[in-house]
Amino acid sequence: MTTGPPIDELHFADAPSVDAVPGPQTQALLEKQREIDSSAVAYPEDIPIAFEDGKGATVRDADGNTYIDLFAGIGVLNVGHANPYVLEAVHEQADKFVHTVDFPTEARLELIEKLDEIAPDGLQGQNKVVFGGPTGSDAIEASIKLAKYNTGGDGLIAFRGAYHGATTGAMSVTSNKAFKERYTPLLPDVVHAPYPDPFRQDKSPDEAVNHALEEVQAIVEDPYGGLANPAGIIVEPIQGEGGIVTPPEGFLQGLRDIADDNDVVLVFDEIQSGLGRTGKWWASDWEGVAPDAMTSAKALGGVGFPLSATMYHEDLDTWGSGDHAGTYRGHVVGMRAGIRAIEYIQDHDLLAHARDLGEYIRGRLREAAAETDRLADVRGKGLFIGAEFIDTDGHPDGDLVDAIQQYCFERGVLVWTAGRHGNVLRLLPPLVLTHELAETALDIIVAVIEELTAEATQTV
Ligand SMILES: Cc1ncc(COP(=O)(O)O)c(C=O)c1O
Repeated sequence: MTTGPPIDELHFADAPSVDAVPGPQTQALLEKQREIDSSAVAYPEDIPIAFEDGKGATVRDADGNTYIDLFAGIGVLNVGHANPYVLEAVHEQADKFVHTVDFPTEARLELIEKLDEIAPDGLQGQNKVVFGGPTGSDAIEASIKLAKYNTGGDGLIAFRGAYHGATTGAMSVTSNKAFKERYTPLLPDVVHAPYPDPFRQDKSPDEAVNHALEEVQAIVEDPYGGLANPAGIIVEPIQGEGGIVTPPEGFLQGLRDIADDNDVVLVFDEIQSGLGRTGKWWASDWEGVAPDAMTSAKALGGVGFPLSATMYHEDLDTWGSGDHAGTYRGHVVGMRAGIRAIEYIQDHDLLAHARDLGEYIRGRLREAAAETDRLADVRGKGLFIGAEFIDTDGHPDGDLVDAIQQYCFERGVLVWTAGRHGNVLRLLPPLVLTHELAETALDIIVAVIEELTAEATQTV
């Protein structure tokens, strides 16, 4: 095997193929889970499914129903489920060595070199990578510690609508109050500035950007801005959980300028938007703006291994030995998987594919939007796609998106939701989704939107 089979050979041939769901085996597993698993379990509340098998951009449940998967384990499976090129290396590595803390292995050093090869201009050739723990939240913690360590400050600027994870530091920079209110006090000096969202803020793109940048500048520079010792600005180049909010051009560069003028560390959280998701390696590549530090996780583990990394400019490499630590500083099998996943994306030209297919999918959604006032905005880049729904009064309509998700599930397409009101249909398919599967999935999604918006309109 050189770089694995072409993308059209990766999937279950019969997808989608669904009987009445959830089937009996799935129901039994869900029931048992309810009895013995934590009350914090969340995903099956949205889609009552129990997975058995996955291939490419398709999955099979415990009853043998097959689905087209447009959520990919929340943006993890960029090269698809069970990608054979990745798995080949996984099996080889797992038989040899799995855990080495941060002793050198070929896999570790190769992955660091591979990440440098795809690093944004401005970090390429002049970065270091720290593997501090397995999840995205761990990478966020590392970036916060890095900013504090290097600046001596402790204040952080984050953004409304942001999601950065579930550990204490990551929750502090996350904006959703309901998510964090039971865990306060968190980090004390965090201020959330507005994120430019022309649609929700009813502003032109320029106005939205200027408004956000003025606020950030005031927080950092105004003597009465409130934040005593700013250390860093942390931002998603496209907000994921917040609703695939795609900032207009100029925002990231404006943040870069403010960070430079004030010697604070600019962190781009590319955990959901990175590794090819947007049709470029990093969402920030669309604007050609480099951060001082960049977090990555999710797709980094190749086929779902928990692995996260924080890349930062070499000038910030001031930590002493052990100043950032953790037992799981890089899972060797996950690292092998990550290298193979990057190679697979490179050799199958999946960045260009993601850009083309993303345009096609957004085009189909925009055609649907032309038929109903309820689909108010379609946005995103590459295969990071959001469609925002409103009710007949123009208010966010999360119930409609929940219904779309359920109807799609019953017809064999898995989609997810996002947005502060849950009213954004979020599509994050594996980058190996074929045009044919995308067409089938969009036929189903568009038919569901038509059916539900017609129904909803009739009932008002
Ligand atoms: C942008 C972003 N940052 C951080 C995280 C946290 O990653 P993890 O859930 O792996 O801790 C997520 C998870 O969804 C995310 O989307």
